[in-house]
Amino acid sequence: MTFEDLRPEQIPQHVAIILDGNGRWAKANGKLRSQGHKAGADNVETINDALTEIGAKYLTVYAFSTENWKRAEDEVSYLMSLMKRYLIRNKKDAIARRTRIRVIGDKTRLDPELQELIREVEADTAHLDRFNLTFAINYGGRDEIVRAVRRVALEAKEGRLDPDMIDEALFASYLDTADLPDPDLLIRTSGEERISNFLPWQIAYSELYFAQVYWPDFTVDELKKAILSYAGRERRFGGR
Ligand code: FPP
Repeated sequence: MTFEDLRPEQIPQHVAIILDGNGRWAKANGKLRSQGHKAGADNVETINDALTEIGAKYLTVYAFSTENWKRAEDEVSYLMSLMKRYLIRNKKDAIARRTRIRVIGDKTRLDPELQELIREVEADTAHLDRFNLTFAINYGGRDEIVRAVRRVALEAKEGRLDPDMIDEALFASYLDTADLPDPDLLIRTSGEERISNFLPWQIAYSELYFAQVYWPDFTVDELKKAILSYAGRERRFGGR
């Protein structure tokens, strides 16, 4: 079967990606790590456009984890400035393509300028519904769950929530991803086969795909290979 033979229902609606290998790509190509991240950010645009064309609805990318603060200070500040530039540069494009942009993660630790940009871009694209691009910034899955538990506990303590009412759907509505469907397909590039605290609640039944190439080398052809692999699988949700 080729990609062109796929039926619309075989296309994953929500693709989540762990963008891995920018640093190794830079090293392999005789470039600086910052150039690797720049190439990685550019590739988010390429893959976002391709997924929109293919007919998917959601792309969620792991741009900065709660662990990434441990990197060298200049690398952290470069990544932050790259995210700012990305949001500024892509707002017009996103609106033209009717793409809603969201950010998940603990935004309170981000610098105020980035927080303000995020607020603006989320508000200015909130009415768009052709495609949904979500950035995980200062995101960690366990941290997201703990923040949700705190809010649930506070509401219970203040008598606004009956603990007996808490079920999976209600709990999920307290997560950062409350208005996103769970990913159908999770891709990690660069040959590493770990989840690294990315959407642990949400990927309970997602299909996993590990690409052998570094993120900047993850082309549209690589994306199509991943989707073909996904389409060939029989999805299971615990039943038969
Ligand atoms: C992994 O490569 C990538 C990251 C830590 C961050 C991903 C960030 C970007 C693609 C740029 C910012 C994103 C946007 C969308 C503006 P790595 O540095 O861990 O690579 P390595 O494992 O080869 O060193």
